Amino acid sequence: MSTLRQSPTDPAFVQDPYPFYAAARAEGPLHHWEEYGMTAAFSHAAVAHCLKDRRMGREAPPECAPVIPERLRAFYEVEAHSMLELEAPRHTRLRRLVLQAFTSRRIAGLGPEIAALCDTLIDGFPEGPFDLIPAYANRIPVIVIARLLGVPESMADDLLGWSNAMVAMYQARRTPEIEAAACQAASDFAAFLRGYVEERRTRPADDLITQLIAAEEDGERLSTDELISTCILLLNAGHEATVHATGNGVKTLLEHGMGAEVLTPDRVEATVEEILRHDPPLHMFTRWIYEDLDVMGRPFRRGDRIALLLGAANRDPQVWDDPEVFDPSRPVKTNTSFGAGAHFCVGAPLARLEMQVALPKLFARCPGLRLTEMPRYADLYHFHGLERLVVARG
Ligand code: HEM
Repeated sequence: MSTLRQSPTDPAFVQDPYPFYAAARAEGPLHHWEEYGMTAAFSHAAVAHCLKDRRMGREAPPECAPVIPERLRAFYEVEAHSMLELEAPRHTRLRRLVLQAFTSRRIAGLGPEIAALCDTLIDGFPEGPFDLIPAYANRIPVIVIARLLGVPESMADDLLGWSNAMVAMYQARRTPEIEAAACQAASDFAAFLRGYVEERRTRPADDLITQLIAAEEDGERLSTDELISTCILLLNAGHEATVHATGNGVKTLLEHGMGAEVLTPDRVEATVEEILRHDPPLHMFTRWIYEDLDVMGRPFRRGDRIALLLGAANRDPQVWDDPEVFDPSRPVKTNTSFGAGAHFCVGAPLARLEMQVALPKLFARCPGLRLTEMPRYADLYHFHGLERLVVARG
């Protein structure tokens, strides 16, 4: 295991982290990443193993839990009840309650509604060059998740603002201003949802918030704080990654001169999987180690952390032939873009459906779609997504 140096804010790395991943993986599955001060896993086998190993998890062991400064309390109060930050038994209970309300049947039924939304957005595209991220990629996931939860669509801009401010806490470039904005967003978001949840308790509706209120497991309901954190998690997780996955997909297809022919009903699923494999929107998640153990023959101690590089695992030549090549006709094999194991993405069926509807619609309605500017990734590293995707219809 060697020590690697690579700043996560280096502009060349942010635009294309894959050569770094390939060079590291060629030397072995695990390396110490100096800038993060922890071991990082680069191979598919190592990443998949760690995601599934229950002796590791997202929640810090009590003796390692960071002391939260008072000024960040609002943000971490929301995180404290988020299933994404918890392990069994609380994680199991929260996840099961959410899955009861978030059924695949309900998700599958959303197809026609998503298609109609895409049509409305495309009708509004301007004649000249425009940025596809705010005009299309950004709108679909936030409106869909707002509708599912039962939050008014007119709140979409507030939801986007709160969510952007909160997820900025996970980026490599975190400043006191970013922290203050995230805390303000967390308390405004929670206050809005608290009012909303109270209203739904007295006036139930046909939406996810009402179902979450009603969801019961062994007589246990979600507490109001858990409900609020769950809604915030679904709203934040439910759109940030999908926006970037869609944007990265459009960029890749246009750069390769591909479009409607790889998005036909018989090909669209494989094309979306290849987009998610080749250029995933989330590149790094970490795990705490709960007991002394070995990973790929390397010893770890309780309290160590390990970084799992999903973007590197997805281009492992042990699993995919010519992994750097974007090839929508390759056989689909499970990639790590949605994680695996206990925290496997709850929203994967919804994200896949949104992309399987939004991409064919876009290319069918805009057959001459072309890039008019070189797309650039935002300088955030963990969120590997475009800051602008300027295109023209023809
Ligand atoms: C392309 C889009 C998406 C990608 C790439 C993605 C990726 C991921 C990944 C990698 C994880 C696991 C993190 C870990 O193991 O540490 C995760 C968890 C999660 N995702 Fe997604 N996600 C996407 C869309 C969505 C959507 C649309 C929703 C909800 C509507 C959602 C909700 C969640 C939730 C609730 C969790 C936490 C699950 C748990 O802790 O048990 N995601 N996602």
